[in-house]
Amino acid sequence: MEQNEVFNPPAEFSNSASIKSLDEYKRLYQAAADDKEKFWAEQAQAVHWFAPWSKVLDWSNPPFARWFIGGQTNVAYNCLDRHLTTWRRNKAAIIWEGENFEQRTLTYQELYRKVCKFANALKELGLKTGDRSIIYMPMIPEAAVAMLACARLGITHSVVFGGFSAEALKTRIQDLEAQIVITANSGLRRGKDVPLKQSVDEALKHCPTVKNVIVYKRQEIPTHMQSGRDHWWDDMTLDRPETCPAEQLDSEHPLYVLYTSGTTGKPKGVVHSTGGYLTQVLSTMKWVFDIRDDDVYWCTADIGWVTGHSYVVFGPLAAGATAMMYEGAPDWPKQDRFWRLIEKYRVTIFYTSPTAIRSFIRQGDQWPEGHDLSSLRLLGSVGEPINPAAWKWYHKVIGKERCPIVDTWWQTETGAIMISPIPGATPAKPGSATLPLPGVFPEILDDKGNKIEGAGKGFLVLTQPWPAMLRTLYKDPERFKENYFSRFPGIYFTGDAATRDNDGYIWVLGRVDDVINVAGHRLSTMEVESSLVRHKSVAEAAVVGAPHELKGQAIHAFVTLKSSEKESDILYDNLREWVAQEIGALARPEKIHFVAALPKTRSGKIMRRLLREIVTTKSVAGDTSTLEDYNVILQLSRQGKEEEEILGEKK
Ligand code: WT7
Repeated sequence: MEQNEVFNPPAEFSNSASIKSLDEYKRLYQAAADDKEKFWAEQAQAVHWFAPWSKVLDWSNPPFARWFIGGQTNVAYNCLDRHLTTWRRNKAAIIWEGENFEQRTLTYQELYRKVCKFANALKELGLKTGDRSIIYMPMIPEAAVAMLACARLGITHSVVFGGFSAEALKTRIQDLEAQIVITANSGLRRGKDVPLKQSVDEALKHCPTVKNVIVYKRQEIPTHMQSGRDHWWDDMTLDRPETCPAEQLDSEHPLYVLYTSGTTGKPKGVVHSTGGYLTQVLSTMKWVFDIRDDDVYWCTADIGWVTGHSYVVFGPLAAGATAMMYEGAPDWPKQDRFWRLIEKYRVTIFYTSPTAIRSFIRQGDQWPEGHDLSSLRLLGSVGEPINPAAWKWYHKVIGKERCPIVDTWWQTETGAIMISPIPGATPAKPGSATLPLPGVFPEILDDKGNKIEGAGKGFLVLTQPWPAMLRTLYKDPERFKENYFSRFPGIYFTGDAATRDNDGYIWVLGRVDDVINVAGHRLSTMEVESSLVRHKSVAEAAVVGAPHELKGQAIHAFVTLKSSEKESDILYDNLREWVAQEIGALARPEKIHFVAALPKTRSGKIMRRLLREIVTTKSVAGDTSTLEDYNVILQLSRQGKEEEEILGEKK
C-alpha cells in the first residue's frame, strides 16, 4: 500500500528544530486536549497585549466564538514596533523582486516608517477605526504596507486578488461598503501590464460608498485620475510624519474580511479577528515552519488569498522573520524563475502549491537542476491534496531528499494551518496532511453524523472552536450558521471528505460540496453557472469540476443554448472569455459541452453528480433513480466520450 510509505524527519533537522520529536508533539497535543484554554493562553504570551484579557474563550453563544476577552492588541504593532526595540530593527523584513528584476529590501525600521506614513495618509482622508478598505494590488511591498497601515488604525481591510475582474471587485466593494480603495496604476504579469486602475474605475461606477482612491505608481504609464477622488500614493505620503500610534484594539476587532466562494453564486465575506488570529498564526509559524532568525522564508501565495495574509504578511512579520515576495509569474522570463530566486536569495523555507509543483514536473528537471538549491531546509505545500508522485518529486528534485515537506491543510475560514506535519517530529506519508496541530480537534463523521473511530472515511469536521477561526460571514450571521454548523448541528463542517488510516493520519480527499478547487483556488460552481446564464445565448448551465493533470480540477460547463442560437467554435470561445471577463481568468472554463438538455431530478434540480461522473469516468454508474429523463444521460455520456475524441486538447 502506498499509504504505508513513510519518510522520517531527517535527524539533522530534528536536532535543531523547535519541536524535536513525535513524543514532544504528542505532549503538546495532549496538553491542549487536557485544557485547551490554558494551552492557548500560554500561546498568547507570544503576542504583545496593551491590556490583558480577563477570559480566554467565550463560547456561550455558539457558533460565535470570542477569544481573549477584554484583551487589547494591534497586529501591525506586533509585526513592526515590537521588533524595533531589538536587534531586528535593521533586519530585512521583506525582500522583494519585481517580475522585471527590480529589487527592494525593506528592513523592519523602513517598513515601519512606510506603514506609519501611509496610515497618516489614511487618517488625512478621514479614515478611522471601524471603517473598511479594499486593497486591490499587485505583489509589491506596498500591498503589505497597505494591509499593515489598515491594521494599525483598525480599518478592516479586504484584499481582492489582482486577477479578479472589475465585476468581481465591484460586488466585493459593495458588500463591504468600503470607504476607500487602495490600488496601483498597473500590475506586471508575464511582461504585460495588468490594468488594475482601469478595473477600479469601472467598478467604482457602481460604488457610491467609495470616496477616495489611493493609487501606487507601479509603472510610468498614462493613468486616468479622477480629481477629488483619486490620489497618488507618493503625493499622499511625501513629507508625512514617520510615526503614527497603533490603535489599541479589542481582541475581537475585525482585522480583515476575505471573500471566498461558497456553494451559492454570492461570495462569502469571511471575517477574521485580531488577538486570536494573531496568536494561532504566530504559533503555527513556529510549529510548522520552525521559523528561525536566520531563515529566508518564501511563501509564493498572492496576498489575494488567505495564505498571503497569514503566511506572507502577518505570520512571518509577527515572528520577526525575513520574508521574500516575488511579483510575477513562475515561468517568466524562463521556467526557472523560482529556482533562480531561491539560489539568488539563499531561500531556506519554500512554501508553494501542488499545482505549481505539478507544472514544474511537466517542465522538466533541467530547470531546477541548473540552480544551486542547497540553501533550502524545509518545503511546504498548500491548497489541495498533493498527489504522492508530486510529493516525491518535490522531495527528491527540489529538497534533494534532505528537506522535510509540510503538507498543510487549512482553509480561508480556519485562518491558520490546522493539520500538518511538524517537520522535525512527524514522519511524513506522501499525500497525507498527517496529524492535527495542538489545539485542533478534527473528527471524521459518517453521513448520519456518527463519529468514525479509528480508520475510516467520511466528512471532516472540527469539534471545538480555535482562536483563528472565522467569527462570522460579513453582515450575514445566518449564512454563517447555516453554511458551517447545520450539516452536523453545532459542529464546524469543513466541506471536505477525508480518510483516517490506522496510524491516525488524515488524508484529505477534497470538497464534497459545490465548491471546486482549480489550481488551489476556490470557485463555486454556482458562481460560474450564474455568469454563463447571464450570456445572451445561454439557456441553462451546469458546472462541475473534472480531474486535471496540472490544476487538480478544471471547470467543465454543460450548456444548453436558447433555441435561436447555434453552437459554434466562436460561441465556444466567447463563452469561455465571457466567464473570464466576468469573474477573472482563473474561472475560465476548461471546456464547454454544448448539450441538448441537462439531467434533472423530477423536482427540477440539476444532477451535477451525474455530470461529474461523466467528466470523471466518461460514463454513469451511480444512482439515476431520481432522474427525470434517462435519455438525457445516455446522450450526455455518449457525448462525453465523443467530445474527448473530437475536441482533444481544444483550448
Ligand atoms: C480548501 C480550502 C488554505 C489556503 C489555501 C486554500 C483544500 C487546502 C489542502 C491540503 C488537501 C487541501 C481543501 C480545503 N486544501 N489545503 N494540504 N490537502 N486539501 O484555501 O480557498 O479556503 O480552500 O482547499 O479542500 O477545504 P481555500
